[in-house]
Amino acid sequence: MSEQIGGFSRNTDGESLLGGSALKSLLSPQITTPAYFYDLSGIFKRVSQIKAAFGDAPHLIAYAIKANSAASIVKTVIEAGGGVDAVSGGELQLALACGAQSRDVVLSGVAKRDDEIRLALEKDIQALQAESVEELQRIAQIAELTSQVARVSFRINPSVEIDSHAHIATGHDKAKFGISRRDWNAAFAKIKQSPFLQLVGISTHVGSMLKTPASYLRSAKVVCEVAQHAQAEGHQLEYVDFGGGFGIDYGDGPADPPHHFAAEALGILKTEGLGHLKLVVEPGRSIVGPYGALVAQVIQTKVSGARRWAMIDAGMNDLLRPALYGAPHRIEPLSQQPQGEESFRVVGPVCESTDDFGDHDLCEDPDYVVIRDAGAYAFTMASEYNARPLPDEVFIRDGKIVHHSPSPGIDSWLAARLKA
Ligand SMILES: Cc1ncc(COP(=O)(O)O)c(C=O)c1O
Repeated sequence: MSEQIGGFSRNTDGESLLGGSALKSLLSPQITTPAYFYDLSGIFKRVSQIKAAFGDAPHLIAYAIKANSAASIVKTVIEAGGGVDAVSGGELQLALACGAQSRDVVLSGVAKRDDEIRLALEKDIQALQAESVEELQRIAQIAELTSQVARVSFRINPSVEIDSHAHIATGHDKAKFGISRRDWNAAFAKIKQSPFLQLVGISTHVGSMLKTPASYLRSAKVVCEVAQHAQAEGHQLEYVDFGGGFGIDYGDGPADPPHHFAAEALGILKTEGLGHLKLVVEPGRSIVGPYGALVAQVIQTKVSGARRWAMIDAGMNDLLRPALYGAPHRIEPLSQQPQGEESFRVVGPVCESTDDFGDHDLCEDPDYVVIRDAGAYAFTMASEYNARPLPDEVFIRDGKIVHHSPSPGIDSWLAARLKA
């Protein structure tokens, strides 16, 4: 089911590889741990594989740039033919600076600021994905001030429950996201009223970490129904957007690969008689998650009571997901296979008890560890909490380091705090 291309593997000596390169051999005095490593070749292939699933059908793979906004990665996605789903003005600017065509960018986000709406209008992007009737009203007012017609989509909330962590489910009735069913008529009325709004799409995003396409397709069907209604009302739609959310295997079982989601989504679109519309999908995690690894040094081990601890130099400030959602990540020795009987509680140095990565099989005297599947929602959520500098990032293509973005170091943190 997993059909892995690139990403993490081990060689016959048990060494950790990323995109075929031994991670230990890539460490050098210039690269300080904790350091994120990314396999750009794997990311390129992943996007190409999704594109292939769409074939000749009009489509846009709007990469959810929030998952990983490193320019080397964003440019790789764009080179492979992708666009961008941005959720802030900053992300929008980054996407364009990385070479995205403005019509390959959508702007989502539940509370877009006025300056972000103005920026999207000025850049003439594919669409502002409106998340409420009130937001449509604000977009209309701002467009009127600049004498523009805003290209908008309705980001609908399809009331679909997904089998996922509560914090990453967004398409249900109590979520803050999207225009809920009872407001759809009001949203259509708002478009009708305002000459400054043009409805070009219907979109959704029901949440993350979907292992199979079932709930994705249920919400896609609701999007299609609203799109059919919009067309019947005379709106010249250009696209439907089924969102992202394709899951990956964090060690808790395989997920259907993203190109399967894409193929099934295209199937629904055609079955619903909407094959003439562009199909937008917004994958983030599935494009980058498996292609990143966080390498950390074991600062020390300690035995206390029945438990053995491994204290590593990566903390929750570098990788927040375990503390934020209780999200699992496989942590293994860097240079040898994990030994089943060498179990450690792996924790970081941050002064918080949630700075805890859980129990993992390491080896007898671990020196370095690799935290797997750390390409998504990892560096982008990193902070300098506890005066810990942001980690290094290292980019690998065809087995070689093509770029190293060093940590800004503690001096930049000190200088900024001294100015505060
Ligand atoms: C609007 C929107 N689109 C796409 C995504 C990407 O989701 P994923 O990384 O699970 O594919 C998100 C993630 O939260 C999102 O909020």
